Amino acid sequence: MTSPAASADLLVLVRDIAVRASEFALEARRAGVSVAATKSTPTDVVTAVDRDTEELIRSLILEARPDDGIVGEEGAAHIGTSGLDWIVDPIDGTVNFLYGIPAWSVSVAVAERAGADAAPRAGGIDGVTLAGVVVNPVHGELFEANVGGGARLLGQSLAVNTGVPLGQALVGTGFGYAADVRRAQADVLRGVLPEVRDIRRIGSAALDLAALAAGRIDAFYERGLNAWDHAAGALIAREAGARVGGARGGREDSELLIAAAPDLYDAFAALLRESGLDA
Ligand code: IPD
Repeated sequence: MTSPAASADLLVLVRDIAVRASEFALEARRAGVSVAATKSTPTDVVTAVDRDTEELIRSLILEARPDDGIVGEEGAAHIGTSGLDWIVDPIDGTVNFLYGIPAWSVSVAVAERAGADAAPRAGGIDGVTLAGVVVNPVHGELFEANVGGGARLLGQSLAVNTGVPLGQALVGTGFGYAADVRRAQADVLRGVLPEVRDIRRIGSAALDLAALAAGRIDAFYERGLNAWDHAAGALIAREAGARVGGARGGREDSELLIAAAPDLYDAFAALLRESGLDA
């Protein structure tokens, strides 16, 4: 098991790589951007900047730690032998990036593998996330955490809002790209919206989780996220005091991620259940 001091050392490298990648992506955005291809559906787009930023991150990781594994949204895959895996979303919030909406992020995390045979998966993380950084390059905001070391925004400690009743909670969520998934997500939202303060759809799950850590929203849920969308953000939220979980009281994964302050979590999960989720 990696010690908190080792995770703090890893955080230095994660931060350095995330900062370099976000400078690269911001400069590329200023030069202009267009759709390079579509993925799961015609609305699930990838730009050349997503791919180039991931390639930069991959090369920086391999230069510093050639024995670590890598799993990235745009296909970067490297089987490592060290027991550590990097989970990379070069641009989380690609649609915002494409439209020039300043809510996209670079998300980089490193996790300790659960067992010798466990490989990194797109859906979830089996081991312990040791360090994570989420950068909003347009706003110049860097959120970071290492396990047991707390969460910070530009060096300032973060703490989730506590004492917020369900009816006053500002709730973040997001939607998948497939029409049938969205139809089901809209059905759940119909149950949630009348019972809370309001809903925010920021467009980057990594920034949603960072926003929860910073007290900018009170709770977050989403079905269908990939590990690269939530690995760094979930650690930052946890280290800011949030409880983060998944379906049926289990761990967060591609089926479901729920996050809220511990004193709000159970009521929030119950509302999600009443609204049709297997929370
Ligand atoms: C998406 C964003 C969005 C969430 C989607 C994700 P991408 O990631 O995180 O907020 O609602 O489920 O797929 O495609 O922009 O990297």
